[in-house]
Amino acid sequence: MRTLAAMRLLILLLLLLAWPVAAQEAVHGGPVRALAASGGALASAGFDQSMIVWDPAAGQARAVVRWHAGAVNALAALPDGGFASAGEDGRIALWPGRPGAQPARVLEGHTEPVVALALSPDGRRLGSAAWDGTGRIWDLATGAARRLEGHQGNVNGIAFRRDGGVATVGFDGTLRLWPEGESPVTLAEFGLPLNALAALPDGTLAVGGVDGALRLVGMDGAVRETRAGARPIVSLAASPDGSLVAAASLGGNVTLWEVASLRLRHSLEGPGLPVWSVAFAPNGASLWTGGADRRVRRWDVATGRPVGPLGPEAALDIPAGADAHGARVWRACAACHALTPRSGNMAGPHLVGLFGRRMGSLPGYEYSERLARGDIVWTRETVADLFTRGPDVVTPGTKMPIQRVGNEDDLRALLDFLEVATR
Ligand code: HEC
Repeated sequence: MRTLAAMRLLILLLLLLAWPVAAQEAVHGGPVRALAASGGALASAGFDQSMIVWDPAAGQARAVVRWHAGAVNALAALPDGGFASAGEDGRIALWPGRPGAQPARVLEGHTEPVVALALSPDGRRLGSAAWDGTGRIWDLATGAARRLEGHQGNVNGIAFRRDGGVATVGFDGTLRLWPEGESPVTLAEFGLPLNALAALPDGTLAVGGVDGALRLVGMDGAVRETRAGARPIVSLAASPDGSLVAAASLGGNVTLWEVASLRLRHSLEGPGLPVWSVAFAPNGASLWTGGADRRVRRWDVATGRPVGPLGPEAALDIPAGADAHGARVWRACAACHALTPRSGNMAGPHLVGLFGRRMGSLPGYEYSERLARGDIVWTRETVADLFTRGPDVVTPGTKMPIQRVGNEDDLRALLDFLEVATR
Protein backbone atom coordinates (compact mmCIF):
# COMPACT_ATOMS: atom_id res chain seq x y z
CA MET A 1 0.00 0.00 0.00
CA ARG A 2 2.81 2.35 0.95
CA THR A 3 4.54 1.95 -2.43
CA LEU A 4 1.27 2.59 -4.22
CA ALA A 5 0.78 5.87 -2.36
CA ALA A 6 4.37 6.83 -3.04
CA MET A 7 3.89 6.05 -6.72
CA ARG A 8 0.78 8.20 -6.85
CA LEU A 9 2.63 11.07 -5.22
CA LEU A 10 5.49 10.69 -7.67
CA ILE A 11 3.14 10.71 -10.65
CA LEU A 12 1.38 13.79 -9.28
CA LEU A 13 4.72 15.53 -8.82
CA LEU A 14 5.80 14.64 -12.35
CA LEU A 15 2.53 15.98 -13.73
CA LEU A 16 2.93 19.21 -11.79
CA LEU A 17 6.47 19.62 -13.08
CA ALA A 18 5.58 18.86 -16.69
CA TRP A 19 2.27 20.74 -16.86
CA PRO A 20 3.24 24.40 -16.54
CA VAL A 21 5.75 24.15 -19.38
CA ALA A 22 3.17 22.85 -21.80
CA ALA A 23 0.23 24.87 -20.60
CA GLN A 24 1.60 28.33 -19.89
CA GLU A 25 4.71 29.00 -21.88
CA ALA A 26 3.77 27.53 -25.23
CA VAL A 27 3.89 30.91 -26.90
CA HIS A 28 6.84 32.36 -28.73
CA GLY A 29 8.13 35.62 -27.29
CA GLY A 30 9.14 36.92 -30.72
CA PRO A 31 8.69 36.23 -34.43
CA VAL A 32 8.66 32.58 -35.50
CA ARG A 33 11.83 32.20 -37.56
CA ALA A 34 11.81 28.50 -38.52
CA LEU A 35 9.41 25.57 -38.89
CA ALA A 36 9.83 21.86 -39.60
CA ALA A 37 7.19 19.14 -39.88
CA SER A 38 7.60 15.39 -39.45
CA GLY A 39 5.06 12.57 -39.38
CA GLY A 40 3.28 13.34 -36.12
CA ALA A 41 4.95 16.51 -34.94
CA LEU A 42 5.71 20.08 -35.87
CA ALA A 43 8.51 22.22 -34.46
CA SER A 44 8.70 26.01 -34.42
CA ALA A 45 11.64 28.17 -33.42
CA GLY A 46 12.03 31.83 -32.81
CA PHE A 47 13.96 34.95 -32.07
CA ASP A 48 12.97 34.33 -28.43
CA GLN A 49 15.66 31.61 -28.28
CA SER A 50 13.15 28.81 -27.86
CA MET A 51 11.94 25.80 -29.83
CA ILE A 52 8.40 24.51 -29.33
CA VAL A 53 7.43 20.98 -30.40
CA TRP A 54 3.70 20.74 -31.18
CA ASP A 55 1.17 18.00 -31.54
CA PRO A 56 -0.47 19.50 -34.64
CA ALA A 57 -3.55 17.30 -34.47
CA ALA A 58 -4.35 18.36 -30.90
CA GLY A 59 -3.19 21.94 -31.50
CA GLN A 60 -1.10 21.82 -28.33
CA ALA A 61 2.53 22.09 -27.35
CA ARG A 62 4.37 18.93 -26.28
CA ALA A 63 7.55 20.59 -25.15
CA VAL A 64 9.22 23.98 -24.93
CA VAL A 65 13.01 23.93 -25.20
CA ARG A 66 15.21 26.84 -24.22
CA TRP A 67 18.77 25.80 -24.84
CA HIS A 68 20.35 27.93 -27.58
CA ALA A 69 22.11 31.15 -26.59
CA GLY A 70 20.47 33.51 -29.04
CA ALA A 71 17.79 33.23 -31.71
CA VAL A 72 16.94 29.77 -33.07
CA ASN A 73 17.20 30.24 -36.85
CA ALA A 74 16.76 26.83 -38.43
CA LEU A 75 15.11 23.45 -37.90
CA ALA A 76 15.07 20.09 -39.67
CA ALA A 77 12.95 17.01 -39.00
CA LEU A 78 15.00 13.93 -38.07
CA PRO A 79 14.11 10.42 -39.31
CA ASP A 80 12.87 9.19 -35.89
CA GLY A 81 10.35 12.01 -35.49
CA GLY A 82 12.70 14.30 -33.56
CA PHE A 83 14.23 17.57 -34.72
CA ALA A 84 17.56 19.32 -35.22
CA SER A 85 17.80 22.99 -34.23
CA ALA A 86 20.45 25.57 -35.05
CA GLY A 87 21.00 29.08 -33.91
CA GLU A 88 22.65 32.40 -33.69
CA ASP A 89 25.13 30.74 -31.29
CA GLY A 90 26.60 28.71 -34.19
CA ARG A 91 25.55 25.43 -32.58
CA ILE A 92 23.39 22.63 -33.94
CA ALA A 93 21.50 20.46 -31.44
CA LEU A 94 19.88 17.08 -32.07
CA TRP A 95 16.64 16.30 -30.24
CA PRO A 96 15.59 12.76 -31.13
CA GLY A 97 12.11 11.71 -30.00
CA ARG A 98 10.47 13.96 -27.45
CA PRO A 99 13.00 16.63 -26.43
CA GLY A 100 14.30 16.87 -22.87
CA ALA A 101 16.17 19.78 -21.35
CA GLN A 102 19.48 18.85 -23.00
CA PRO A 103 20.09 17.72 -26.59
CA ALA A 104 21.24 14.17 -27.35
CA ARG A 105 24.14 15.57 -29.38
CA VAL A 106 25.62 18.98 -30.13
CA LEU A 107 27.35 19.58 -33.47
CA GLU A 108 29.96 22.28 -33.06
CA GLY A 109 32.23 23.93 -35.60
CA HIS A 110 30.43 26.90 -37.12
CA THR A 111 31.77 30.18 -35.77
CA GLU A 112 28.86 32.44 -36.79
CA PRO A 113 25.06 32.02 -36.82
CA VAL A 114 23.69 28.93 -38.56
CA VAL A 115 20.73 29.94 -40.74
CA ALA A 116 19.62 26.80 -42.58
CA LEU A 117 19.50 23.03 -42.04
CA ALA A 118 18.53 20.14 -44.34
CA LEU A 119 18.34 16.37 -43.91
CA SER A 120 19.69 14.05 -46.63
CA PRO A 121 17.14 11.77 -48.38
CA ASP A 122 18.64 8.68 -46.65
CA GLY A 123 18.30 10.41 -43.27
CA ARG A 124 21.96 9.86 -42.39
CA ARG A 125 23.42 13.32 -42.98
CA LEU A 126 22.52 16.82 -41.95
CA GLY A 127 23.55 19.87 -43.97
CA SER A 128 24.05 23.29 -42.40
CA ALA A 129 24.57 26.77 -43.87
CA ALA A 130 26.15 29.55 -41.83
CA TRP A 131 27.22 33.15 -41.85
CA ASP A 132 30.84 32.10 -41.26
CA GLY A 133 30.95 31.61 -45.04
CA THR A 134 30.83 27.81 -44.91
CA GLY A 135 28.39 24.97 -45.21
CA ARG A 136 28.88 21.62 -43.47
CA ILE A 137 27.66 18.09 -44.00
CA TRP A 138 27.43 16.23 -40.72
CA ASP A 139 27.36 12.46 -40.37
CA LEU A 140 24.54 12.02 -37.86
CA ALA A 141 25.93 8.72 -36.52
CA THR A 142 29.46 9.97 -35.78
CA GLY A 143 29.16 13.78 -35.69
CA ALA A 144 32.03 14.07 -38.20
CA ALA A 145 31.71 17.00 -40.61
CA ARG A 146 32.76 17.86 -44.14
CA ARG A 147 33.39 21.59 -44.64
CA LEU A 148 32.01 23.27 -47.75
CA GLU A 149 34.30 26.21 -48.44
CA GLY A 150 34.21 28.57 -51.40
CA HIS A 151 31.27 30.97 -51.05
CA GLN A 152 32.16 34.65 -50.66
CA GLY A 153 30.29 35.78 -47.56
CA ASN A 154 27.21 34.33 -45.88
CA VAL A 155 25.91 30.92 -46.90
CA ASN A 156 22.12 31.24 -46.60
CA GLY A 157 20.63 27.98 -47.82
CA ILE A 158 21.44 24.28 -48.16
CA ALA A 159 19.51 21.37 -49.69
CA PHE A 160 20.02 17.75 -50.73
CA ARG A 161 18.98 16.65 -54.20
CA ARG A 162 17.26 13.33 -54.79
CA ASP A 163 20.60 11.71 -55.71
CA GLY A 164 22.08 12.82 -52.36
CA GLY A 165 24.08 15.65 -53.94
CA VAL A 166 24.39 18.80 -51.84
CA ALA A 167 23.58 22.33 -53.04
CA THR A 168 24.09 25.70 -51.34
CA VAL A 169 23.22 29.33 -52.05
CA GLY A 170 24.71 32.47 -50.59
CA PHE A 171 25.13 36.18 -50.42
CA ASP A 172 27.57 35.95 -53.35
CA GLY A 173 24.67 35.09 -55.69
CA THR A 174 25.88 31.61 -56.59
CA LEU A 175 24.15 28.24 -56.48
CA ARG A 176 26.86 25.64 -55.88
CA LEU A 177 27.01 21.85 -55.95
CA TRP A 178 29.43 19.90 -53.74
CA PRO A 179 30.10 16.46 -55.27
CA GLU A 180 31.78 14.01 -52.90
CA GLY A 181 35.56 13.89 -53.39
CA GLU A 182 35.52 16.39 -56.29
CA SER A 183 35.83 20.15 -56.62
CA PRO A 184 32.66 22.17 -56.15
CA VAL A 185 30.67 23.26 -59.19
CA THR A 186 28.91 26.60 -59.67
CA LEU A 187 25.58 25.53 -61.15
CA ALA A 188 24.20 29.05 -61.59
CA GLU A 189 25.20 32.62 -60.88
CA PHE A 190 22.46 35.22 -60.45
CA GLY A 191 24.44 38.34 -59.52
CA LEU A 192 22.35 39.18 -56.43
CA PRO A 193 22.20 37.78 -52.90
CA LEU A 194 20.27 34.50 -52.55
CA ASN A 195 18.38 33.88 -49.30
CA ALA A 196 16.65 30.52 -49.52
CA LEU A 197 16.94 27.10 -51.14
CA ALA A 198 14.67 24.04 -51.32
CA ALA A 199 14.98 20.76 -53.24
CA LEU A 200 12.07 19.18 -55.10
CA PRO A 201 11.73 15.39 -55.35
CA ASP A 202 12.75 15.40 -59.06
CA GLY A 203 16.04 17.11 -58.26
CA THR A 204 14.92 20.63 -59.25
CA LEU A 205 16.23 23.31 -56.91
CA ALA A 206 14.05 26.26 -55.90
CA VAL A 207 16.08 29.42 -55.21
CA GLY A 208 14.77 32.60 -53.55
CA GLY A 209 16.60 35.88 -54.06
CA VAL A 210 16.58 39.42 -52.69
CA ASP A 211 14.92 40.62 -55.92
CA GLY A 212 11.77 38.66 -55.04
CA ALA A 213 12.18 36.20 -57.90
CA LEU A 214 11.64 32.47 -57.47
CA ARG A 215 14.01 30.52 -59.74
CA LEU A 216 13.70 26.83 -60.48
CA VAL A 217 16.95 25.19 -61.56
CA GLY A 218 16.58 21.76 -63.17
CA MET A 219 19.01 18.84 -62.90
CA ASP A 220 20.40 19.97 -66.29
CA GLY A 221 20.96 23.53 -65.02
CA ALA A 222 18.07 25.05 -67.01
CA VAL A 223 16.52 28.02 -65.16
CA ARG A 224 12.84 29.03 -65.06
CA GLU A 225 11.79 32.20 -63.25
CA THR A 226 8.69 33.83 -61.79
CA ARG A 227 7.88 36.47 -59.18
CA ALA A 228 5.02 37.85 -57.11
CA GLY A 229 6.71 41.09 -56.09
CA ALA A 230 10.00 42.87 -55.63
CA ARG A 231 10.54 42.20 -51.91
CA PRO A 232 13.27 39.70 -50.96
CA ILE A 233 12.21 36.07 -50.52
CA VAL A 234 13.05 34.95 -46.97
CA SER A 235 11.78 31.38 -46.89
CA LEU A 236 10.87 28.59 -49.33
CA ALA A 237 9.28 25.16 -49.04
CA ALA A 238 8.48 22.46 -51.60
CA SER A 239 5.39 20.28 -51.24
CA PRO A 240 6.20 16.60 -50.58
CA ASP A 241 5.03 15.55 -54.09
CA GLY A 242 7.00 18.37 -55.70
CA SER A 243 3.99 19.94 -57.41
CA LEU A 244 4.02 23.20 -55.42
CA VAL A 245 6.52 25.67 -54.00
CA ALA A 246 5.60 28.13 -51.23
CA ALA A 247 7.58 31.37 -51.02
CA ALA A 248 7.46 33.96 -48.22
CA SER A 249 8.77 37.42 -48.94
CA LEU A 250 10.04 40.02 -46.50
CA GLY A 251 7.21 42.11 -45.13
CA GLY A 252 5.05 40.80 -47.94
CA ASN A 253 2.90 37.77 -48.34
CA VAL A 254 3.15 34.05 -49.03
CA THR A 255 2.65 32.76 -52.55
CA LEU A 256 1.98 29.17 -53.69
CA TRP A 257 3.29 28.30 -57.16
CA GLU A 258 2.49 25.33 -59.39
CA VAL A 259 5.87 23.92 -60.38
CA ALA A 260 4.90 22.45 -63.78
CA SER A 261 3.31 25.63 -65.19
CA LEU A 262 4.84 28.27 -62.84
CA ARG A 263 1.26 29.47 -62.41
CA LEU A 264 0.35 31.30 -59.19
CA ARG A 265 -2.02 28.96 -57.33
CA HIS A 266 -2.67 31.18 -54.29
CA SER A 267 -1.48 34.32 -52.63
CA LEU A 268 -2.27 33.76 -48.95
CA GLU A 269 -4.33 36.48 -47.35
CA GLY A 270 -5.15 36.53 -43.69
CA PRO A 271 -3.68 36.95 -40.24
CA GLY A 272 -0.08 36.33 -39.25
CA LEU A 273 1.72 38.32 -41.92
CA PRO A 274 4.54 39.11 -42.40
CA VAL A 275 5.80 35.55 -42.44
CA TRP A 276 9.36 34.42 -41.71
CA SER A 277 9.02 30.67 -42.21
CA VAL A 278 7.00 28.16 -44.24
CA ALA A 279 6.73 24.34 -44.13
CA PHE A 280 4.39 21.84 -45.77
CA ALA A 281 2.71 19.13 -43.68
CA PRO A 282 4.01 15.70 -44.75
CA ASN A 283 0.65 14.90 -46.43
CA GLY A 284 0.88 18.09 -48.49
CA ALA A 285 -2.66 19.20 -47.58
CA SER A 286 -1.62 21.95 -45.16
CA LEU A 287 0.99 24.66 -45.18
CA TRP A 288 2.36 25.95 -41.88
CA THR A 289 3.57 29.53 -41.56
CA GLY A 290 5.33 31.34 -38.73
CA GLY A 291 5.82 35.05 -38.51
CA ALA A 292 5.73 38.35 -36.76
CA ASP A 293 2.60 37.62 -34.71
CA ARG A 294 4.56 34.92 -32.78
CA ARG A 295 2.10 32.21 -33.76
CA VAL A 296 2.17 29.12 -35.96
CA ARG A 297 -0.67 29.15 -38.49
CA ARG A 298 -2.13 26.47 -40.71
CA TRP A 299 -3.43 27.10 -44.26
CA ASP A 300 -5.44 24.85 -46.53
CA VAL A 301 -3.24 24.26 -49.59
CA ALA A 302 -6.23 23.50 -51.86
CA THR A 303 -8.14 26.70 -51.07
CA GLY A 304 -5.40 29.02 -49.78
CA ARG A 305 -7.61 29.86 -46.77
CA PRO A 306 -6.41 30.11 -43.14
CA VAL A 307 -7.42 27.12 -41.00
CA GLY A 308 -6.31 28.40 -37.62
CA PRO A 309 -3.36 28.94 -35.32
CA LEU A 310 -1.71 26.61 -32.80
CA GLY A 311 -1.66 27.38 -29.10
CA PRO A 312 -3.05 30.31 -27.14
CA GLU A 313 -3.31 33.90 -28.33
CA ALA A 314 -0.02 35.77 -28.08
CA ALA A 315 -1.04 39.28 -27.17
CA LEU A 316 1.31 42.23 -27.40
CA ASP A 317 1.39 42.45 -23.56
CA ILE A 318 0.27 46.09 -23.56
CA PRO A 319 -1.22 46.85 -20.15
CA ALA A 320 -4.40 48.87 -19.76
CA GLY A 321 -3.78 52.51 -18.88
CA ALA A 322 -0.43 52.68 -20.65
CA ASP A 323 0.30 55.76 -22.76
CA ALA A 324 -1.10 55.15 -26.27
CA HIS A 325 1.47 57.28 -28.08
CA GLY A 326 4.21 55.55 -26.08
CA ALA A 327 2.75 52.14 -26.95
CA ARG A 328 3.19 53.00 -30.63
CA VAL A 329 6.85 53.93 -30.07
CA TRP A 330 7.23 50.73 -28.04
CA ARG A 331 6.33 48.61 -31.10
CA ALA A 332 9.95 49.01 -32.26
CA CYS A 333 11.13 47.51 -28.97
CA ALA A 334 8.50 44.75 -28.73
CA ALA A 335 10.35 42.58 -31.25
CA CYS A 336 13.09 42.03 -28.63
CA HIS A 337 11.65 42.78 -25.17
CA ALA A 338 8.69 41.35 -23.27
CA LEU A 339 6.68 43.21 -20.63
CA THR A 340 5.64 40.24 -18.52
CA PRO A 341 7.94 37.71 -16.84
CA ARG A 342 5.70 34.95 -18.25
CA SER A 343 6.69 35.87 -21.81
CA GLY A 344 10.29 35.39 -20.73
CA ASN A 345 13.38 36.76 -22.38
CA MET A 346 13.36 37.32 -26.11
CA ALA A 347 16.43 38.58 -27.97
CA GLY A 348 16.68 41.09 -25.13
CA PRO A 349 15.80 40.69 -21.42
CA HIS A 350 12.22 41.29 -20.27
CA LEU A 351 11.84 44.79 -18.85
CA VAL A 352 9.60 44.06 -15.86
CA GLY A 353 10.72 46.19 -12.91
CA LEU A 354 13.10 48.16 -15.14
CA PHE A 355 13.18 51.43 -13.22
CA GLY A 356 15.44 51.07 -10.20
CA ARG A 357 17.15 47.97 -11.59
CA ARG A 358 20.91 48.01 -12.14
CA MET A 359 21.85 47.38 -15.77
CA GLY A 360 22.60 43.80 -16.72
CA SER A 361 21.15 42.39 -13.51
CA LEU A 362 18.15 40.29 -14.57
CA PRO A 363 18.86 36.69 -13.48
CA GLY A 364 18.72 34.10 -16.26
CA TYR A 365 19.52 36.45 -19.15
CA GLU A 366 22.94 36.29 -20.83
CA TYR A 367 24.04 39.91 -21.05
CA SER A 368 27.06 41.24 -22.89
CA GLU A 369 30.11 41.87 -20.68
CA ARG A 370 29.44 45.60 -20.96
CA LEU A 371 25.98 45.40 -19.41
CA ALA A 372 26.76 42.61 -16.96
CA ARG A 373 29.63 44.67 -15.49
CA GLY A 374 28.08 48.10 -15.86
CA ASP A 375 26.82 50.16 -12.93
CA ILE A 376 24.17 52.41 -14.48
CA VAL A 377 20.83 52.17 -12.64
CA TRP A 378 17.86 52.46 -15.02
CA THR A 379 15.73 55.55 -14.35
CA ARG A 380 13.75 57.90 -16.60
CA GLU A 381 16.94 59.92 -17.06
CA THR A 382 19.34 57.05 -17.83
CA VAL A 383 16.92 55.33 -20.23
CA ALA A 384 16.34 58.71 -21.94
CA ASP A 385 20.11 59.10 -22.29
CA LEU A 386 20.42 55.54 -23.68
CA PHE A 387 18.07 56.31 -26.55
CA THR A 388 19.17 59.93 -27.09
CA ARG A 389 22.89 59.28 -27.52
CA GLY A 390 22.32 55.62 -28.51
CA PRO A 391 23.29 52.29 -26.88
CA ASP A 392 26.50 52.20 -28.92
CA VAL A 393 27.65 55.46 -27.29
CA VAL A 394 26.28 55.02 -23.75
CA THR A 395 27.14 51.31 -23.45
CA PRO A 396 29.77 50.53 -26.12
CA GLY A 397 30.05 46.79 -26.69
CA THR A 398 26.37 46.15 -25.94
CA LYS A 399 24.42 43.48 -27.84
CA MET A 400 21.49 45.87 -28.36
CA PRO A 401 21.48 47.12 -31.95
CA ILE A 402 22.15 50.80 -32.63
CA GLN A 403 18.94 52.78 -32.31
CA ARG A 404 17.91 56.22 -31.17
CA VAL A 405 14.57 57.81 -30.43
CA GLY A 406 15.26 61.13 -32.13
CA ASN A 407 11.95 62.91 -31.53
CA GLU A 408 11.54 64.43 -28.05
CA ASP A 409 7.77 63.83 -27.92
CA ASP A 410 8.26 60.19 -28.88
CA LEU A 411 10.90 59.75 -26.20
CA ARG A 412 8.73 61.34 -23.50
CA ALA A 413 5.79 59.15 -24.56
CA LEU A 414 7.99 56.03 -24.51
CA LEU A 415 9.16 56.82 -20.97
CA ASP A 416 5.56 57.48 -19.82
CA PHE A 417 4.61 54.14 -21.34
CA LEU A 418 7.54 52.29 -19.74
CA GLU A 419 6.76 53.76 -16.32
CA VAL A 420 3.35 52.06 -16.36
CA ALA A 421 4.12 48.99 -18.46
CA THR A 422 7.25 47.79 -16.63
CA ARG A 423 5.84 48.25 -13.13
C1 HEC B 1 16.73 43.95 -32.06
C2 HEC B 1 16.55 43.74 -30.65
C3 HEC B 1 16.32 44.90 -29.72
C4 HEC B 1 15.49 45.99 -29.90
C5 HEC B 1 14.64 46.32 -31.10
C6 HEC B 1 15.55 46.73 -28.67
N1 HEC B 1 16.39 46.13 -27.79
FE1 HEC B 1 16.77 46.73 -25.89
N2 HEC B 1 18.10 45.20 -25.67
C7 HEC B 1 18.36 44.25 -26.62
C8 HEC B 1 19.41 43.38 -26.13
C9 HEC B 1 20.01 42.20 -26.88
C10 HEC B 1 19.75 43.84 -24.84
C11 HEC B 1 20.83 43.29 -23.91
C12 HEC B 1 22.08 44.06 -24.24
C13 HEC B 1 23.35 43.53 -23.67
O1 HEC B 1 23.37 42.54 -22.94
O2 HEC B 1 24.37 44.18 -24.00
C14 HEC B 1 18.90 45.01 -24.59
C15 HEC B 1 18.92 45.76 -23.40
C16 HEC B 1 18.05 46.78 -23.12
C17 HEC B 1 17.98 47.48 -21.86
C18 HEC B 1 18.83 47.19 -20.65
C19 HEC B 1 18.12 46.13 -19.83
C20 HEC B 1 18.86 45.65 -18.61
O3 HEC B 1 18.34 44.72 -17.96
O4 HEC B 1 19.93 46.16 -18.29
C21 HEC B 1 16.98 48.40 -21.97
C22 HEC B 1 16.51 49.38 -20.89
C23 HEC B 1 16.42 48.28 -23.29
N3 HEC B 1 17.09 47.30 -23.96
C24 HEC B 1 15.36 49.03 -23.76
C25 HEC B 1 14.91 49.00 -25.07
C26 HEC B 1 13.91 49.90 -25.60
C27 HEC B 1 13.13 50.95 -24.80
C28 HEC B 1 13.79 49.61 -26.93
C29 HEC B 1 12.94 50.32 -27.98
C30 HEC B 1 13.17 51.75 -28.15
C31 HEC B 1 14.70 48.52 -27.21
N4 HEC B 1 15.36 48.19 -26.07
C32 HEC B 1 14.82 47.89 -28.45
C33 HEC B 1 17.76 44.12 -27.84
C34 HEC B 1 16.88 45.01 -28.39
